Parts: sequence; C-alpha cells; structure tokens
Amino acid sequence: MAEYWYIAEGFENRVQEYLADNGDSEVDMMFTVPEKDFNTAGKGSSEVKNLLKRLGVDSEVLRRIAVASYEAEINVAAHSHGGVMHSAVYDDHIHIRFEDEGPGIADIEQAMIPGFSTADELARELGFGAGLGLPNIKKNSDAMHIVSEKGSSTLVEFIIFFS
Ligand SMILES: Nc1ncnc2c1ncn2[C@@H]1O[C@H](COP(=O)(O)OP(=O)(O)OP(=O)(O)O)[C@@H](O)[C@H]1O
Ligand SMILES: [Mg+2]
Repeated sequence: MAEYWYIAEGFENRVQEYLADNGDSEVDMMFTVPEKDFNTAGKGSSEVKNLLKRLGVDSEVLRRIAVASYEAEINVAAHSHGGVMHSAVYDDHIHIRFEDEGPGIADIEQAMIPGFSTADELARELGFGAGLGLPNIKKNSDAMHIVSEKGSSTLVEFIIFFS
C-alpha cells in the first residue's frame, strides 16, 4: 500500500506523542458514508461540528475541522463505493478517520496536486470536482495521513489540535 504523510511544522512532537500512545478518547462518533449519496454525505461532518461547538472549541479551529471533514466525507461519497467516518475527540485534539471500500487511489502524490480530479459527471454537476478537496484537508490539518493503492480501500485521516 502506498502511504502519504503530512505533519504541519511545529506539530511533529505532539503528533508523534499522540501516535505513540493515543490513550482514551472522550467522545467517539461513527457515521456511514454511502456511495454517491450527496444528501447523506456531509452529515457526519456537521454532527461533529455541532458537538465541538457545544464543547466550546474555538471558532477558527472549528472552521478548519469542518472544512477538512466535509471534504474527506464528500470524497468518500464521490470517489468510493462507500465507507465509514470515525471521529475521536480527545481533550486537546480531534482525530477523524475515513475508511472506504475502494477502488483506491492509484497515485496519491498526483491526487494531492491542486486541480487534479477524476470526479464524474454527477459530482461535477453538483459543483464538486475542482480537485481542491485533498489540498484543502492538508491546509486545514495539523497532520494528515493517506493509505491507498489502486484496487484497495482508502484510508484518509487527519488530526487537528484545539489550541
Ligand atoms: N476516497 C477516495 N477514493 C478514491 N479516490 C479518491 C478518494 N479521495 C480522493 N480521491 C482521488 O483524488 C482526487 C483528488 O481529490 P480532491 O478531493 O482533491 O478533488 P475532487 O474530489 O476531485 O474535487 P473537489 O474536492 O474539489 O470537489 C479525486 O478526483 C480522486 O481521483
Ligand atoms: Mg474532493
């Protein structure tokens, strides 16, 4: 499987510490993301956003989490045969994971290039397909990880700290 990692400058230690011992999360949420269902896709992201708002997460951080999770959720609906969104809230950060049922990403580096898109007609008619979702997740995350290959499932996950 091919793998892609991005860790924002200055977050290397916090991310390594969390990955070495991720402890217990405070709240876990799970949503299914059906294929091509653009009404359901976005629901998980908006519920997570509502929860974090209630928990008092800073509005700029909240915006970044909402953007990254929405883009990743829409990608599962638009480009995969469906999958699940799993979010784990810790005291100082959130870890959101998307795992789908394929068909996978043939070239992750290429998929990360702004403007690259394989979106189909339906997705384009709905305004998706600018090729900006993955770059946007990267821009808004403190860490981002993708594991995929052609013919396999895709894992897209990211971590965002609350302060
Ligand atoms: N979960 C996924 N499964 C398979 N391929 C994916 C997945 N997520 C992204 N890709 C591939 O990566 C490309 C780039 O994704 P990205 O989100 O950047 O752009 P997009 O979804 O095509 O357009 P936009 O997000 O701007 O609406 C997609 O067109 C698709 O080829
Ligand atoms: Mg996208």
